Amino acid sequence: MTGKERWGSNLGFVLAAAGSAVGLGNLWGFAYRASQGGGGAFVLLYIAIVLLVCLPLLVAEMVLGRNTGNSPLIAPRRAGGKAWAPLGWLFLLVSVGILSYYIVLMGYAGTTLLKSVLGNLPLDKTEASNYFSSISTGEVSLRGQMFSLAITGGVVAAGIRGGIERLTKWGMPLLFLMLICLALWASFQPNAHEGYAFLFGWDASKLTDPETISNAFKQAFFSIGTGIGAILAYSVYLDSRSAIPEEAVAVVTLDTAVGLIAGCVTFPLVAILGLGDLVGEGSIGTLFSTLPHGLAGPSMNLTGWLVSVLFFALIYIAAITSAISLLEVPVSSLMDQIGLSRSKAVWISIVITALLGLPSAIDVNFLAQADSIMNALLITSGLLLAILMGWSVPSRFKNELEDSKTSKLKINGLLWTLRWISTPIITIGLTVVLEETFRNWQF
Ligand code: PHE
Repeated sequence: MTGKERWGSNLGFVLAAAGSAVGLGNLWGFAYRASQGGGGAFVLLYIAIVLLVCLPLLVAEMVLGRNTGNSPLIAPRRAGGKAWAPLGWLFLLVSVGILSYYIVLMGYAGTTLLKSVLGNLPLDKTEASNYFSSISTGEVSLRGQMFSLAITGGVVAAGIRGGIERLTKWGMPLLFLMLICLALWASFQPNAHEGYAFLFGWDASKLTDPETISNAFKQAFFSIGTGIGAILAYSVYLDSRSAIPEEAVAVVTLDTAVGLIAGCVTFPLVAILGLGDLVGEGSIGTLFSTLPHGLAGPSMNLTGWLVSVLFFALIYIAAITSAISLLEVPVSSLMDQIGLSRSKAVWISIVITALLGLPSAIDVNFLAQADSIMNALLITSGLLLAILMGWSVPSRFKNELEDSKTSKLKINGLLWTLRWISTPIITIGLTVVLEETFRNWQF
């Protein structure tokens, strides 16, 4: 890697990494998975996995990036030798795989934003399901996909400081502000408590329910976005003195807070709008059809218009700042492996992503299957990353953190957690997720 580029500041890196983490996973994914049931048990498991597994893993991923200075494709081989080369390919496969349908979802959000602005949202339940089919298939879906991919490519082509850092520096604060306004607004609505009750309702038996466990794992990994090389690609441009553990804590805290606050917007909204009966269905389209029609309904008037515009603008900004980090994985790998220029690498990557995304753009069921397989692969590569950094080359982990003056106690604590807590928990989680994925597989 050239290593010439650097983040303008530590805050710039934290906002970009938080931008990668905060995305459709927090808004669409959280609503989609939490609505499949589980309530407070789902939320508790999700938070526990984030703290015990994703946080140490994120530190390991950042260390791997900064220590090797290589792209996700080459970093595992550089750190652990030839035997680890397949992990680099897995990073590449999973990030391009996720990006291919992520861009399609982003297209749905963009179309819904446009329709919100124009006041063209569906007005009732029947119109809402027709509406979702109309945006998730055919030309509309393809147009959304191409537009979103072009924007993402444009930002990544502009480089780390000129594109990614510049966008996330204003995008993230704006996103936080919009989200807090929406959550406050929702909390003052009469039926909001029903939404909170659904999201946090306690049923201890759900703690051992495989579907809830599997959903919590997928949600935690997808939302933090660790174990796939995206944050690794960003960490290459980190200053050698920056405090990695503290930065990882900031990213994880921001992401989890946004996930929970977003839940405190979507679930009360569903209750306020009287859409409760649709929630249990927990389909991919919940966010893109249920909410818009509620907001466009006659009782909402101008408030509904404003809330829908704000809400979908927020989703779109969150999605771009994540999509750019996913795209940075193939782009930096092509630059690193075959010495391509950034703009050439972007072109090649977006063409491949567009082609791979076509089946998802045409068929939403394909998208759902791709999401479930990619999530399982994401957790697999997370497990391999934990083994690489925690078990195979722990000295790299230690030395790199010592060099940036992290205390010995912190380093040993993190390494111990990575080895003895995170690794076994991911192994168990992966088994449950794989079992669930095969059971729900639709041929
Ligand atoms: N974390 C992002 C989200 O919540 C998605 C993502 C996954 C980004 C993996 C990077 C890596 O939407």
